[in-house]
Order: sequence, then structure tokens, then C-alpha cells
Amino acid sequence: MADTAEFHDRMLSLGLARVSEAAALASARLIGRGDEKAADQAAVNAMRDQLNKLDIAGVVVIGEGERDEAPMLYIGEEVGTGNGPAVDIALDPLEGTTLTAKDMPNALTVIAMGPRGSMLHAPDVYMEKLAVGPGFKRGVVTMDMSPSERVSALAAAKGCSTEDITVCVLERPRHEEMIAEIRTTGAAIRLITDGDVAGIIHCAEAEKTGIDMYMGSGGAPEGVLAAAALKCMGGQIYGKLLFRNDDEKGRAKKAGITNLDRVYTLNDLVKGDVIFAATGVTDGSVVAGIKREPGFLTTETILMRSKTGSVRRMTYRNPTR
Ligand code: FBP
Repeated sequence: MADTAEFHDRMLSLGLARVSEAAALASARLIGRGDEKAADQAAVNAMRDQLNKLDIAGVVVIGEGERDEAPMLYIGEEVGTGNGPAVDIALDPLEGTTLTAKDMPNALTVIAMGPRGSMLHAPDVYMEKLAVGPGFKRGVVTMDMSPSERVSALAAAKGCSTEDITVCVLERPRHEEMIAEIRTTGAAIRLITDGDVAGIIHCAEAEKTGIDMYMGSGGAPEGVLAAAALKCMGGQIYGKLLFRNDDEKGRAKKAGITNLDRVYTLNDLVKGDVIFAATGVTDGSVVAGIKREPGFLTTETILMRSKTGSVRRMTYRNPTR
């Protein structure tokens, strides 16, 4: 019987880490092989197999796409044994398919779980995102501010010069104007070619990663996953859905979204307590990538619970024969 009242986050967290590990291990042999699709498929298959072993009555709310376009881990797919708590699941079996295919940094497998209704059912559209790490007063930077105003506000809050601020941005033509404006402040920009979940998580460990703020547009599903991580680690994120056409607006309406102009805060994106796991595929600042040695593959996973704010880093040496 599904238990909707209790979300056994502590018990389930280690199982979630196994799911994330399994997806990363499956994509290991496809790192640097130039085949995004094969790497993604391997991660999807392994994540689904492992997820179905968990004693949960799970529903995928952020997944590989709509049912008609994704045969596995589609939005609405029921996962788990059905014996256990009723949970919502947000996942990206391989965040950074191109990074994996090209053996570039920061490819991750990502999964978050929470009670029913805990995470925004974000449609597969773009989202304008703005994020900073923990330790700042609420609203230190906002969507209403221009990019340069955000840099100045964050520098003032940190008590440093704008030149000491580093902003992470996806390198895309659509961001050229924003990048030019940030540069007028003297701030540094860490350009990433893909992987904004990692980009946003980096803000939560600014001292280690050197990244103070994330801004720009990327996938809305990735925005919810990043928010789940920040819910555990602390920090702030704002997201606004972006629509290019009526079909995309239709996707939002189908997902139950009525106010298409809403700016979502962290607690709007992730309402309830969640657990979050991410395993490194290629090396990154959040977690190390998969290491190979004869007979073994070793992974690193970050596993977190929002209820306690606990952050665990786990190494798994997996025998390959
Ligand atoms: P994939 O792993 O699905 O390729 O996504 C990578 C990614 O860089 C995300 O991190 C980001 O949110 C999105 O793609 C950006 O989309 P686009 O490449 O269309 O700018």
C-alpha cells in the first residue's frame, strides 16, 4: 500500500544513490566515444532498472520527455515496486550528453525524490534562471535587476569588488548581450558549454568552485533539478518559463501551469522536502568523474537531504568482472 503521509527520506536516500551510481556506471564505456544518444540510452536503461528495484510507488514528474516521445522514464511513468511511499521523481539520467560524448567536464547523472506534489511539473521548455549560494539575505539578487545590477548587488552583499565576482553562464548566442553587460562590471564569467545543473550547484560551494552566481536560460526541467539540490545545500534560485510558440505554452497548460509569466522561487520549484543524488560521469568541481582501473570502475556521488541539510559524498568501487 502506498503511504502518502510518510516520506522515508532517510531510508530511501541510499537507494537513490545506487540509482544515480548505476546510471553513471552504465555510461562509463561511452565517455569520449562521440555518441550522445548511446550514452544517454545506457544511462536511461540503468537508471530505470535500478529505480524499479526501490520499494516506492513512484511517478516520474521530470523525465526524458512526454510519453509519446520518450519510451522510458517518460513524464507520468510509474516506477518502483509499488510497495512503499508515494513519491514524485525528477531525473536526468545523463545531464550533459555532449559533455560525455566529448569527455568534457561536469557531466552528471541526477535524480531527486520527494513526496507527491513536492516538485514543480516543469514542461520541457526553456527557463530563465538566476541562482546564488547560501549565506545571503533573501532577494539579494532578483529577476527584476539587470545583469550588471545583480553583480553589483552581490558584490555589495559579499563586501567585495564587482571584479571579485564570478558568474557562470551557458555559452550560447542568446546570451551574448547579457555576457557583454556582465563584462562592463569587471566581473569574471565562467562559460560552460553545457550542464547548467552543475553550473547552479557550483554556486552553493563558491569557495571550492569559484562561482558566485549563475544566470541565463536553459532547460526548465534542469531548473527544477538544480532547485532540488539548492533546497538541500542552501542558496536561492529564481526561474521563469520562456515560451517560443503556442505548442510550448500548451505543454505548460498540460502540466497544470496557468500563470505563464510567474517567477518561481526555490520553494515554488521545490515545495516539500526532497532527497537528491548526483554521480559524476566526467570530472567536475561538484564530484569526480568515473575512474577506471583494471577490474574496477570507481564513482563519486553527492547525496543530500533537504530535511537535515546533510551532504554526503560517497565513493563506490565497482568490480567489473
Ligand atoms: P542534455 O544533457 O540533455 O544535452 O542537456 C544539456 C544542457 O546543457 C542543460 O544543462 C541545459 O539546461 C540545456 O542543455 C540547455 O539547452 P540548449 O543546449 O538548447 O541551450
